[in-house]
Amino acid sequence: MRWPKNLKIKSNVPLTPKTTFWIGGAAQFFSQPRDPRELKALLLAAKGNGVPVFILGAGSNILVSDEGVSGLVIKLDAPYFKKICLEPGLLRVGGGLMLSQMIKFAQDKSLGGMEFLAGIPGSLGGALAMNAGCWGFSIASLVKEAQVMDYRGKVKILQNKQIHFAYRKSSLAKYIILSAGLKLKKSRRLVIKNNISEYLAKRRKAQDLSFPNAGCIFKNPGKKSAGMLIDACGLKGKGIGQAFVSERHANFILNKGACRAKDVLALMRIMKKQVKAKFKLGLQPEIKIWE
Ligand code: EPU
Repeated sequence: MRWPKNLKIKSNVPLTPKTTFWIGGAAQFFSQPRDPRELKALLLAAKGNGVPVFILGAGSNILVSDEGVSGLVIKLDAPYFKKICLEPGLLRVGGGLMLSQMIKFAQDKSLGGMEFLAGIPGSLGGALAMNAGCWGFSIASLVKEAQVMDYRGKVKILQNKQIHFAYRKSSLAKYIILSAGLKLKKSRRLVIKNNISEYLAKRRKAQDLSFPNAGCIFKNPGKKSAGMLIDACGLKGKGIGQAFVSERHANFILNKGACRAKDVLALMRIMKKQVKAKFKLGLQPEIKIWE
């Protein structure tokens, strides 16, 4: 394997602490580019070496295999990718910025409309790639345009109309999101603050954050809640190794300590099989499985 000397690439970097699930092996290669120029150089070098590339956002929606990831994991957490500023008619946000920081910035500037995202432990790029959402809203509704890089290093600006968004799905997933221009909505700071508190309280009530987890494991099949279906199969509390179906929300798997990815996958197979047998509905993972 040959990498250009000017690129900082580490080998065999443990990914467990970089994920909210706290599961999995190491990245074969790992790098944190400082800017789009370095990012492009990394992509081209990976291509030259025939190495697959994985973009790590906040690590909140992935299950890393116990054997780790064969390829180059790139994390966009340098200051360049975490910029946030007001531009005429839009809020420009870097793909590596955490949603919580974005919401706080907007609140300070009296800009509302994104409070529903409060409590989602994601980066803007990750949230856009999967069209994250909750309480009937999704991040797609905020997007005016996105600045993206393709895996050959070419930068493009896509307007909202050029992006396909669906439930937990977006055409932006095939790019690396450098930044997005989000729509602004003037609001009162106190109103925004109260909205955020309400959403956080709802989230605390419905979800189970008592142990490391990756949020909802499966997508909802149609209008039905995957959590409700898994619950109806009597699977709450079911465990394999240290992986347990949450007692509070059955679409959450909890890592109760040194959990292995293979136990999570085995538990997921049981959840899927029982929902299929009882309701004739196929569950699709919402989390990304990295191998
Ligand atoms: N329910 C049960 N048992 C359970 C879980 C839920 O009966 O174990 C019932 C609830 O009582 C409620 C209904 O199912 O009547 C829906 O539950 P909830 O409000 O928790 O919504 P959900 O459909 O399970 C979705 C998203 C969540 C998002 C919430 C709130 C998916 C896969 N999940 O969950 O997103 O926070 O709505 O809007 O779309 C995530 O993406 O990681 C995530 C957690």
